[in-house]
Amino acid sequence: MNILNLQDIEQEAALRLDSNALEYYRGGAADELTLRRNRSDFDDIVLYPRVLRDVSHRSLRCTLLGQTFDMPIGIAPTAMQCLAHHEGERATAHAAVAMNVPMILSTTSTIAVEDVAQVEGVQLWFQVYVYKDRATTQEIVQRAVHAGCTALVLTVDAPYLGKREREARIGFHLPEHLCLPHYTRLQAAHVPAHQGESGLVRHFAQNIDPALTWNDILWLEKISGVPVIVKGIMRADDAIQAAAYGARGIIVSNHGGRQLDTVQSSIRALPAVADAVGHC
Ligand code: LAC
Repeated sequence: MNILNLQDIEQEAALRLDSNALEYYRGGAADELTLRRNRSDFDDIVLYPRVLRDVSHRSLRCTLLGQTFDMPIGIAPTAMQCLAHHEGERATAHAAVAMNVPMILSTTSTIAVEDVAQVEGVQLWFQVYVYKDRATTQEIVQRAVHAGCTALVLTVDAPYLGKREREARIGFHLPEHLCLPHYTRLQAAHVPAHQGESGLVRHFAQNIDPALTWNDILWLEKISGVPVIVKGIMRADDAIQAAAYGARGIIVSNHGGRQLDTVQSSIRALPAVADAVGHC
């Protein structure tokens, strides 16, 4: 197939992936209202282009946290990429280098941060899920910084994982030949299936700390020494609060509609947040 756009990639994925991986990647929470709204609100955006302005030289270059990228687009953290291909997160890192954009590596990646960081030229940020076991969180964060990650991206919209019916139906699990290498000390590196339940939802309930507060932004900055970006903010008042607690960036996101269903689409939530803190 001649792959020209995202729809082509989706079609190809549906042919190649097994149902465990496919349902995990394409699913949202509950009735998937937010998942659909994310897409339809994006499609509803219309442009009013200017003309006759000499566009023979163009640049989308931008600077973020002191780093220069070729366009203001980055690769969001997505978990368990080896479900799709054995090169997993390493392949994504090569793509990030080719496009000169930042890559955010998930805590729940299937390749360790040290290995992904080996990809020459990759500009890596590390996405953080905070475990109930804070010593483990600290160790992972420090490993990531030591490996070369220049920022942390704290996900704040997943104290519990969303109600993912596709995952429950399929009994989502990580196949035995894969593991989550950042979890090995917790002995939670494997995500087995559970009858009628997503293995990942159970994994989160057991390991992830639902007691996070604003002070944890300060804690993460203190233990890592790198800027903390907060991912999962949907409101102006939360954005102002995050900035007050030292967040150096905000990612307006509803987690791809995978967390709380019925929330606003990310693109419609963006303008109010940008108005509130976009100047910082
Ligand atoms: C997910 C988590 C792991 O959305 O970020 O599946």
